[in-house]
Amino acid sequence: MILKVLSLFPGFVESFFSTSILAKAVEKRILSYENVNIRDYTTDKHRTCDDAPYGGGAGMVLKPEPLGAALAAVGADQFRTIYPTPGGRLFNQAYAEELSKEETLIFICGRYEGIDQRIIDLYVDDEISIGDYVLSSGELAAFVLIDAVFRLLPGVLSSESLEEESYKSGLLEYPQYTRPEVYQGLRVPEILLSGNHALIQQWRKEQSLCKTQRYRPDLLEKLKQEGKGYGFN
Ligand code: ADE
Repeated sequence: MILKVLSLFPGFVESFFSTSILAKAVEKRILSYENVNIRDYTTDKHRTCDDAPYGGGAGMVLKPEPLGAALAAVGADQFRTIYPTPGGRLFNQAYAEELSKEETLIFICGRYEGIDQRIIDLYVDDEISIGDYVLSSGELAAFVLIDAVFRLLPGVLSSESLEEESYKSGLLEYPQYTRPEVYQGLRVPEILLSGNHALIQQWRKEQSLCKTQRYRPDLLEKLKQEGKGYGFN
């Protein structure tokens, strides 16, 4: 997969791609990226990227010309172009899976009060929100999207860990334990030491259900409506 990230903070983007399993995926050539500085596409001597909004109001808006030129240069008319914004459609795992099938993705990292609507009209395929809160940095939202997508690419994680994780079944994940058996007086549940895989599966299923009921009853409701039982088979 090729990721093209347009931002005003290429150092921030670089630090993200050079960290952890994302860097490993780049090294293994599962992923490559282009780190594009929108400011490189300005034409005035102050390298201006933003301006006051028409109609008044607080904050600044990313100007269309430099951003548009950067988008044209990376081929935004040919590739799926995503603009993370609190004003977009809510991101979820199904959507991450859809994006993971694309060969190339372009991300626009906004700042200030957003980007000129004509850029959205001309170039953006998806406006996506990562949640009902407002971040000061579009980069952080783009990183969340990229992280959720790249880990689904073949060769990044084992298929087993992808199968078992939260949201795949529609339920939240069961609790995990590792050594030691007792930590600060708290024991690992006996059943996990039993070696009985059927019982362990059963316990995990119950734990997932309890946790989902407690934190995300909306997910249980959704499974019921979809007629999927509780997502375990
Ligand atoms: N940019 C700022 N806040 C955001 C959010 N919640 N989702 C996506 N992009 C954002």
